Amino acid sequence: MGRLQGKTVFITGASSGIGEASARQFAKEGCNLVLTARRLEKLEQLKADISKSHLNIFIHAVKLDVRDKKQIDTVVTELPAQVKDVDVLVNNAGMVIGTDPLIDVKEAVVDQMLATNIKGLVFLTQAIVPRMKERETGHVINIGSIAGKQAYAGGSIYCATKFAVDAITKALAIELVDTPIRVSQICPGMVNTEFSTVRFQGDKEKADNVYKGLQPLVADDIAELIVFTAGRPAHVNIADMLVFPVNQADSKTVYRRPE
Ligand SMILES: NC(=O)c1ccc[n+]([C@@H]2O[C@H](COP(=O)([O-])OP(=O)(O)OC[C@H]3O[C@@H](n4cnc5c(N)ncnc54)[C@H](OP(=O)(O)O)[C@@H]3O)[C@@H](O)[C@H]2O)c1
Repeated sequence: MGRLQGKTVFITGASSGIGEASARQFAKEGCNLVLTARRLEKLEQLKADISKSHLNIFIHAVKLDVRDKKQIDTVVTELPAQVKDVDVLVNNAGMVIGTDPLIDVKEAVVDQMLATNIKGLVFLTQAIVPRMKERETGHVINIGSIAGKQAYAGGSIYCATKFAVDAITKALAIELVDTPIRVSQICPGMVNTEFSTVRFQGDKEKADNVYKGLQPLVADDIAELIVFTAGRPAHVNIADMLVFPVNQADSKTVYRRPE
């Protein structure tokens, strides 16, 4: 039996990309799942799909907009008994809009990124970690980014949110150092998901150009590392992991094959 068998994993942003891939890979390890995102129909599809090949795990799919603290508290309070005790929280929901220079970023866009990427992660953590402390077990895995290590032009607010994730992860790890609860951060470089389509508000051509001439990471590459991080023995904590495609060296240094 693997170390993750029977554990309960709560994933935000499970309706696509890294969150969805993580759900599928945790299911293979025999984990029960709480799948959350705003697009409930996607979560229901994912639940149905995973359930076909994993009959013995319990999956709870529930609509959750992480920008809404009340919703977070309700979802966590009303978890079904089978998944009430969360062993692994994957704070994955996140997004970016646009590439405007700071002086042009609209207030609504600033608010949306701060509310999703920072406040959502904070309030989810606050809703779930106290029970982990009572049970003296648990693991918080935050999805950061290279954007949380290095700022770039056109990414001021997104970078600020991911720098915040970096800081929050480190502070939480310090606060929980005298507990068995583990706190980890995984920081991807370029991953080909819906992320760039969201960034360019549905402009597929602009989104595809981000990955032109190089082989980006795919959601499964990061999901594998999330599951690996969760699956280490209880005394091992992977604090921080920075992961690039082979032809990316930092936020903006990439090699693209000539056409
Ligand atoms: N792709 C990359 O290159 C890359 C690189 C570094 C870090 N990351 C980080 O990786 C994480 C996952 O992104 P991804 O690449 O998998 O992108 P994605 O395919 O666009 O997935 C983002 C997920 O976040 C959810 N989400 C967005 N806003 C939400 C909200 N207000 N409430 C709840 N869920 C929300 C989306 O679900 P709904 O729309 O259904 O709510 C979706 O499931 C993000 O934190 C992102 O910043 C991505």
